[in-house]
Amino acid sequence: MSKRILILPGDGIGPEIVAEAVKVLEYLKKTHALKIRMSHGLVGGAAYDAAGHPLPEETLQLAREADAVLLGAVGGPKWEPLDIAVRPERGLLGLRAELELFANLRPALLFPQLASASTLRPEVVSGLDIMIVRELTGGIYFGQPRGIRTLPDGQREGFNTLVYKESEISRIGRVAFDIAMKRNKKVCSVDKANVLECTELWREIMTGLGREYPEVALSHMYVDNAAMQLVRAPKQFDVIVTTNMFGDILSDCAAMLTGSIGMLPSASLDANSKGMYEPIHGSAPDIAGQGIANPLATILSVAMMLRYSLDAPECAGRIEQAVNQVLDEGLRTADIHTEGTRRVGTAEMGDAVVAALG
Ligand code: IPM
Ligand code: MG
Repeated sequence: MSKRILILPGDGIGPEIVAEAVKVLEYLKKTHALKIRMSHGLVGGAAYDAAGHPLPEETLQLAREADAVLLGAVGGPKWEPLDIAVRPERGLLGLRAELELFANLRPALLFPQLASASTLRPEVVSGLDIMIVRELTGGIYFGQPRGIRTLPDGQREGFNTLVYKESEISRIGRVAFDIAMKRNKKVCSVDKANVLECTELWREIMTGLGREYPEVALSHMYVDNAAMQLVRAPKQFDVIVTTNMFGDILSDCAAMLTGSIGMLPSASLDANSKGMYEPIHGSAPDIAGQGIANPLATILSVAMMLRYSLDAPECAGRIEQAVNQVLDEGLRTADIHTEGTRRVGTAEMGDAVVAALG
């Protein structure tokens, strides 16, 4: 039985980078007998323009039926004036919530060839290999009540709610501990337990869970310190587990350690390893349509998809190997370009990866 993949290019550079990832999938289908069927759908601003909603029912239905979803990026200045309920980002958040994709895996891995592309000194980042496990369907992103209300004195007040149930904390905790068992057996749980009761509970649950994983060294860190440690001495981390919003912030920070946010893939998984895969960068409207965006994060997201949802680890390894090879060959998109390397566009990079797949 072939596996169903839903392709959602989205907005901005989304269609350009997804096109390169689709080339990779088509190639593996043709030459390595990868049994997949691809369908396409609309999400984000593109869906709003075509159907009046960033997550049309049809897209949601296709996503429910799929074994995995590949998403480009959503959003852009064009849709910023819209009501928050129909902004492109809602399409993404809606997919995460509706498909119950609570576990967001964001690896920050430095390709040795790019050590000099990082803004940090090479000795600080070389060998970097961190896995950020971000809770994705709870916390302040989804907590109720939320909104903007008018107070009796006439001024407005904005409010959101940070809330986590014990079960939500332990299920993301388990994902992190299980991943750590396959890595270097270290988990750092990031919270703000000195100020926020919600994350005091988070710390308590993580501590309890830690007793079930005696081989894993568990540490706790406040989020402000974690942000500092990530740029001071990032190699101290193996697996980081944290809340939805802290994970959003720390994963961008970790991405820059690797030279470019344009290199990092992500997986968002439900309890049964069904997943949505996307680069962690955004839609980059400033460079959209120019053919200069880096497609490697999306291509590496395909590798994660093959490994986590489609049970094709051999093909996943091939993709990662091919990316390594094109970097070895000196090919670089603008975001990772340094002196002495060859600057290429989006499609040329995608073609080079396909050529390197063998
Ligand atoms: C991310 C993005 C999203 C988030 C936005 C686009 C809603 O920043 O995936 O990190 O905040 O989760
Ligand atoms: Mg983000």
